[in-house]
Amino acid sequence: MGKDRHFLDQLLSRMTLEEKVGQLSLYSADVKLAGAETVNPALTFKAPESRFDDIRAGRVTGVFNGYGEDYVRSLQKIAVEQSRLGIPLIFGADVIHGFRTAFPVPLAEAASFEPELAERVAETAAAEAAAEGLHWTFAPGADLCRDARWGRVVESYGEDVLVASRFAAARVRGFQGGDLSDPRRLMATVKHFAAYGAAEAGLDYNTAEISRTTLIDHYLPPYRAAVDAGAGAVMTAFNDVDGVPASANRELLTGLLRDRWGFEGFVVSDYNSDFETVAHGLADSPREAARLCFLAGLDMCMQSGLYADHLPGLVASGEVEEGAVDRAVLRVLRAKQALGLFENPYRGLGRAFDPAPARALAREAARRCQVLLKNADGVLPLKAGMRVALIGPFAREHQHLNGAWAIFAANGLSVNLEEGFLAALGPDALVVEPGCGIAEPIAGGLDDAAAAARSADVVLLALGEGQHMSGESRSRSDIGLPPAQLDLARAVKQAGKPVVTLLRTGRPLAIPELAELSDALLVTWFLGAETGAAVADVVLGRAAPSGRLPMSFPRRVGQAPIYYARKPTGRPPQHPPGPFTARYIDVEPTPLYPFGYGLGYGRVEYGPTQVSVAELGWSETLSVSCELVETAGAAIEEVVQLYIRDVAASRIRPVRELKDFRKVAIAGGARVVVAFELQTADLRFAGEDGALIVEPGAFDVWVAPHAQAGVPARFVLLDRHGAEPPGVG
Ligand code: NOJ
Repeated sequence: MGKDRHFLDQLLSRMTLEEKVGQLSLYSADVKLAGAETVNPALTFKAPESRFDDIRAGRVTGVFNGYGEDYVRSLQKIAVEQSRLGIPLIFGADVIHGFRTAFPVPLAEAASFEPELAERVAETAAAEAAAEGLHWTFAPGADLCRDARWGRVVESYGEDVLVASRFAAARVRGFQGGDLSDPRRLMATVKHFAAYGAAEAGLDYNTAEISRTTLIDHYLPPYRAAVDAGAGAVMTAFNDVDGVPASANRELLTGLLRDRWGFEGFVVSDYNSDFETVAHGLADSPREAARLCFLAGLDMCMQSGLYADHLPGLVASGEVEEGAVDRAVLRVLRAKQALGLFENPYRGLGRAFDPAPARALAREAARRCQVLLKNADGVLPLKAGMRVALIGPFAREHQHLNGAWAIFAANGLSVNLEEGFLAALGPDALVVEPGCGIAEPIAGGLDDAAAAARSADVVLLALGEGQHMSGESRSRSDIGLPPAQLDLARAVKQAGKPVVTLLRTGRPLAIPELAELSDALLVTWFLGAETGAAVADVVLGRAAPSGRLPMSFPRRVGQAPIYYARKPTGRPPQHPPGPFTARYIDVEPTPLYPFGYGLGYGRVEYGPTQVSVAELGWSETLSVSCELVETAGAAIEEVVQLYIRDVAASRIRPVRELKDFRKVAIAGGARVVVAFELQTADLRFAGEDGALIVEPGAFDVWVAPHAQAGVPARFVLLDRHGAEPPGVG
């Protein structure tokens, strides 16, 4: 079969309306996944065999979350050999942080501040998944999120627009490469469009109550970056935006995505999100839901069967033009064509995939994501020859290593902490005690833990969240440590040995007491297949920690949402806090650990921020630089961050905005100058009518180790004087 456009037009001309609608109808594979938890409600699950007739009749465009030689080949064979037109199925899946090899969760990956690492990870995950017959991944998530109560922060890139944008784009490149027909690649899906991460009160599926300009300035750019990187599909969000559910939101799906951004791929609903516009109270019937979603620009239904049930009737009544259906179908067929499915519907199957390099990459990535928040008296890295007590509910377990969305990877195959430290230290230097469960005490557990602590030179305290505590529909109203774990930490502290806390989590936690009693605090997230090995690497100094926080850690849950790029108030908080200012009467307004924060085993002093000119011409480039000195005599990888503040603008601007970042290796005792470039286009923001504008005037600029550090330099952007406005849109 040919590869050209003509071929698709001809194919389309032979399709019945039912077959066309079939190309817009995606269903779950109805198979049990390897992961412990189900990932979607069992809505319209059918026995796999009963899908056979649907596939034979051309009523199915593809299936998701099924994989493997037997499954894919048998279904694909029915589609290509027994359906009237032989159109191949597309096989999709939630390959979010790895396929069989589990990689660190996205929030952890963001902590690396290395988009190029995320790109390599995505490429590897794609190759592993494609070798089992998959063509399409439901990733990257590009949902900016600032409320740690929301369970899906674990699969996000955190609170910052630039970090999220760079990572989302990098993962699209990693999944897709330059040629989608390469059988080692997957087509990417940007999700959940739009503003899913702005769920009010951190409650999953809740309304996204945000202003239009905050949407434009903060929430939309990560999706846009992924679209610009060439993502083949976009998935709509469950929430409404300004009163219209995203799956039926014409302004978003057509006005913005297609008309302004020029997106040419197809738009798929989230799981039943089209049908849920009835529950939202937008549509008064499923038929109306189908009409509204289709006319808004939603091409494909995931699982609901909404178009299958109602689109033919809507075309017959003239409420939907068949030409519009044709355009949607063509978008889907073009994706199948780009994937090379018409030439080789079995692409990827039978292809060998060597898991060893993937495991090595998983270990490298897991090392580079960990964030050291505290290291009193240089307790880390541990000195050679120390006797170690590894204590806590995550010391020996095998069910909470991978995190929420490695649904095809078995937790049992991942290296746990005990295994990692045993391999590194040998049995004589290690004693292991659980002390308590994740949420409940164990009889005698505190005594055993305290005894283990007394017998050792140092305690590694493995605490935090279980895998089931973050992820979809895992919002929490209390983001502290479960009381049983805090009791364990207190009991262990009594033993008087240095305490190194290894914090497993899928979100920022409010842990002031734990931070206080820990001598060292290392955020280890969910790191996947090589968890134990990679944590041992960092704790023992075989690798230095180089991650930084992609989300602020609050002191109390009541501060949520807390994020660094907040708008200034007219009564800023003061130190010490005074009355009639933006303060709480019971907690400091600042986070416990700010965005961008993290330590290494070396120490870096920042010199003053320097700007190349005090007055910047409209079309000129500003160089912003800073001299860094390593003062502890140990090599470090420092994440150097460039922030700005627009001092006065027609619409008030955040107290700081990250504009660039770079991970820089500095040798012990060395001095380096780090320079960034700023252009007028970097100073854009949404004006009154939503169009992006730049205003002349004063800007503060910092080169700093995190969002609360440093003393700014100032420059003034001069008037445009007739020059072209920057490329805005
Ligand atoms: C619902 C989730 O919101 C989405 O991210 C996922 O891709 C689908 N389920 C399919 O499993």
